[in-house]
Amino acid sequence: MKFHVLTLFPEMIEQGLNTSITGRAIAKGLISLNAVNIRDFANNKHSKVDDYPYGGGAGMVMQAEPVYQAHQSLEAQAGKKLRTIYLTPQGQTFHQEMAKEFAKEEELVFLCGHYEGIDERVLEEIVTDYVSIGDYVLTGGELPAMVMIDTISRLVEGVLNNGDSAEYESFQDHLLEYPQYSRPEEWRGKKVPSVLMSGHHANVEKWRREQSVLRTAKWRPDLLEKAQLTEKEKVLLKGEGYDV
Ligand code: ADE
Repeated sequence: MKFHVLTLFPEMIEQGLNTSITGRAIAKGLISLNAVNIRDFANNKHSKVDDYPYGGGAGMVMQAEPVYQAHQSLEAQAGKKLRTIYLTPQGQTFHQEMAKEFAKEEELVFLCGHYEGIDERVLEEIVTDYVSIGDYVLTGGELPAMVMIDTISRLVEGVLNNGDSAEYESFQDHLLEYPQYSRPEEWRGKKVPSVLMSGHHANVEKWRREQSVLRTAKWRPDLLEKAQLTEKEKVLLKGEGYDV
């Protein structure tokens, strides 16, 4: 998977993603990261890329041409149109299913805005997807781009060491993940649930599924509407006082 990021702060993207699991995936060649400085495409002495908004108002707007040229350079290299995501609080809210969809692409472009946004005309020309990472306003699109790249990367074959770990996790089947425990067996008087020490695989699976269901009812009841619960699980939840 090739990730391109159009940004005024390429070092922020590089430093953020060249560590840990994404860093290792880049080193292994499983994903690649190309952070492109939009300022390099400014066609003036001072490398200025922003200007006052027509109609007045606070702040500055990123101008269309440098963004367009930066994007054109990527499509020229790729020799094709590229799926291009603009990070904006006005977009569709990012979620795991969307990440799975983006993970099917071979190449993705992330466009990061700053100041009061980007001239609408270039967005109309190049953007295919408008995505937000949640209902709050950040200072720029770099952190949202990194959030998306991290999420998509771990779905790329080989990025996680254990092939299973992207399968059993939160949001799979619209349920949150079950709780995890490791050594020691007793910590500050708290014991690991005995079923996990039993070595009885089927019982462990049953317990984990129950915990997922209970945890989702408690913390994210909105998810349960889409989860496929068995009649037994519904009875369990009713017994615990949840309305299903
Ligand atoms: N840019 C500023 N805030 C943002 C958000 N919440 N999601 C995506 N891009 C943004």
